[in-house]
Amino acid sequence: MKKEQFPSGFLWGAATSAHQVEGGLHNDWTEWEKQHAERLAREAEGRFGHLPNWPDIKAQAQNPANYISGRACDHYNRYEEDFDIAQSLGHTAHRFSIEWSRIEPREGEFDEKEIEHYRKVIAALRARGMEPFVTLWHWTQPLWIRDIGGWENKKTVDYFLRFVEKAVGALKEDVTFWIVLNEPNIYTSFGFIKGSHPPGEKNIFKAGKVYLNLLKAQKRSYEVIRKIDQNAEVGMANSFMYFEEKNSFILNTPVKNIVSYFWNFWFINRIGKKIDFIGCNYYSRHLLGVGDKKVKTGDTSDLGWEIFPRGIYLMLKDLVKYKKPIFITENGLADAYDEKRTTFIKEHLFWMQKAVEDGVDVRGYFHWSLLDNFEFPEVRGFWPRFGLVEVDFATMERRIRQSAHAYAKICKNNALDRY
Ligand code: BGC
Repeated sequence: MKKEQFPSGFLWGAATSAHQVEGGLHNDWTEWEKQHAERLAREAEGRFGHLPNWPDIKAQAQNPANYISGRACDHYNRYEEDFDIAQSLGHTAHRFSIEWSRIEPREGEFDEKEIEHYRKVIAALRARGMEPFVTLWHWTQPLWIRDIGGWENKKTVDYFLRFVEKAVGALKEDVTFWIVLNEPNIYTSFGFIKGSHPPGEKNIFKAGKVYLNLLKAQKRSYEVIRKIDQNAEVGMANSFMYFEEKNSFILNTPVKNIVSYFWNFWFINRIGKKIDFIGCNYYSRHLLGVGDKKVKTGDTSDLGWEIFPRGIYLMLKDLVKYKKPIFITENGLADAYDEKRTTFIKEHLFWMQKAVEDGVDVRGYFHWSLLDNFEFPEVRGFWPRFGLVEVDFATMERRIRQSAHAYAKICKNNALDRY
């Protein structure tokens, strides 16, 4: 058996986001959840009835309570216990988001108690030898921002920058890595074109406005953060999907190229030099084009997403052109019985390592997620189990999954075992 080392100092960890794990929030999403829970429960069969695990998830998916984030994982109160687990699993870094609606619940009123909370969270990571990667915005907004029209309103950019200045100013002592925005492409397309996320719009013009405002926020945050701390590393995390043609029909290639360009590269191309690292969230391959599917596809997760490990390599190769360090800021799968996660992790890391061998400057990997949590994309709720650690949402008990131990071995050795 051959051990394949990763570069020294490579960071290993897992990722979460405030809305999905903290509990006790009051923001645009919690309001949306209350308004839509009944409908989502009614529509569950239409949305998930085709999945092989439908009999298992039916009762939960048809229960409106599944669509209310509520206490989530109560991570707000249990972060120390959760970080003890991450430390015991050999994690050397952790990605999480701070919640704007807690820090600035009303316009211009900053809650020092909440800032102190995040200071403690960061200190708890440092005390356990984990490098904090702090996401400043993972989709949610305070209600007062929602009420002025959210990201459609250009004033939101200024308000966001003021929040960034305040948060970074207060937390900078212990933080080097800042992820300004999480997945502006998912946020904009789901919230403003598909209408499945708040504010539930289906309006391409509004989507355009929102996307441009987010771009402005990302770029200007770079200036704000660098002014506060010259040594800060400022990045973003985008959803990178590996697109491929369904079959060899000639028109499918230009379609794929256009979609891939707009989804994966348009935003980042416009950031220019105002970024220090790229956060790559990679989950799956997506087939595009007309006609029957001819491409052979692999196994799927509980959500029906194809498991396509080579895609992480292909995606990373496509990001080389930016000549920036790259972190895998999310990669994972819903797998309630933990049958596929170990292989999933090993195969993705195998391909990630291949990219490193090819000279791609990958510096860390964050598995999504540390904990089972409230899966808010498409408001799926609590049944998709993405955690290295299982959470019993009734008792809040944590149970470490087998795959978490397999991943821990890799983290601790900074190496993959290859036969
Ligand atoms: C998001 C996470 C989410 C994950 C799995 C990403 O799009 O950043 O919040 O839970 O995908 O769906």
